[in-house]
Amino acid sequence: MIRSGTRPEESITLKRIRSIVRGIGSYLPKRKLTNQELEKIVDTTHEWIVQRTGIEQRYIADDSETTSVLGIRAAEAALADAGLTAQDIDLIVCATSTPDHTFPSTATMIQNGLGITHGAAFDLQAVCTGFVYAVATADKFLQSGSHKRALVIGAETFSRILDWNDRTTCVLFGDGAGALVLEAQEGEGNSADRGILTSQLRSDGRYREKLYVDGGPGSTKTTGILKMEGREVFKFAVGMVTDVVQDAFKASGTTPEELKWFVPHQANKRIITASADKLGIAPEKVVITVDRHGNTSAASIPLALDVARKDGRIKDGDLVMIEAIGGGFTWGSALIRW
Ligand code: UT7
Repeated sequence: MIRSGTRPEESITLKRIRSIVRGIGSYLPKRKLTNQELEKIVDTTHEWIVQRTGIEQRYIADDSETTSVLGIRAAEAALADAGLTAQDIDLIVCATSTPDHTFPSTATMIQNGLGITHGAAFDLQAVCTGFVYAVATADKFLQSGSHKRALVIGAETFSRILDWNDRTTCVLFGDGAGALVLEAQEGEGNSADRGILTSQLRSDGRYREKLYVDGGPGSTKTTGILKMEGREVFKFAVGMVTDVVQDAFKASGTTPEELKWFVPHQANKRIITASADKLGIAPEKVVITVDRHGNTSAASIPLALDVARKDGRIKDGDLVMIEAIGGGFTWGSALIRW
């Protein structure tokens, strides 16, 4: 942070609280569903799905694997990775559009499942951008000094809101959960700090009809089914994503060359590679997991981060950009020094 009214050479960077990544974990349902199996359910082919989306398989939750159950498993893995216990956590933010119930929140169910009875827990709904919104929200809580350690979770069971007769949507989505443990620590206030360096959130409700669920407790009194004008979403996605990533570079004073890993929302391989290309991010820096997970909405980024951390790609000190676009539209990015 630069104190205003000073010349650049006299500028003083002020120490500030950063939300640093202490641990990461994820969980996938037991049941894997391949494209070949989908060929028997709807009029589609493995070749079409791979060519248009990059997806080869996804995981589908059984009745016992509710969103909160997936979230609890991911949170436990993240706590173990952090070397912390559930009692060290005083904030839980769960991004989901597929809660177990309309209420109570999935976050409080996860809190209870972890045996935590202190602090605060709440859900946040920004569809596929949910995890970016949740990271940004938890970061602001930690920066304010009100909370010390947060579990930020993306957990989804989109298989429950799909029309399994609609080939234009049912082949795209999957279930899963991922979690980050963020901890407040003092940083120097510059881009060399560890932690969340910036987050950029946007939304525009004029695009509601392009991607939505056609029911809800306050309208139809039902859960509803996912509807998407895929081609239309595709048209907007690359432009919106690149804008918000460029804003994150600008706000943090960093560049695509400095970036170590680009970990986008995993909806479609073509959107991911086109965005990276437009941003000048080298293909070898792009983490792609849509092939094995499908589109898991708010869970896709923490699932991808966990894969790249566990296979040794993401190392301490690496600059990592996450970004997403989803229903609303909502879109956003966050830059993390791991
Ligand atoms: O996570 C939130 C954000 N969501 C997204 O980012 C999704 C964005 N959109 C997409 O990823 C792509 O638009 C899709 C993968 C959904 C579709 O790919 P596309 O290249 O835009 O295909 P299209 O919708 O233009 O459809 C092309 C053709 C159509 O047939 P005709 O009209 O050309 O005869 C579709 O009926 O492909 C047909 N089609 C299929 N064929 C075989 C649509 N779904 C399928 C399918 N299998 N599953």
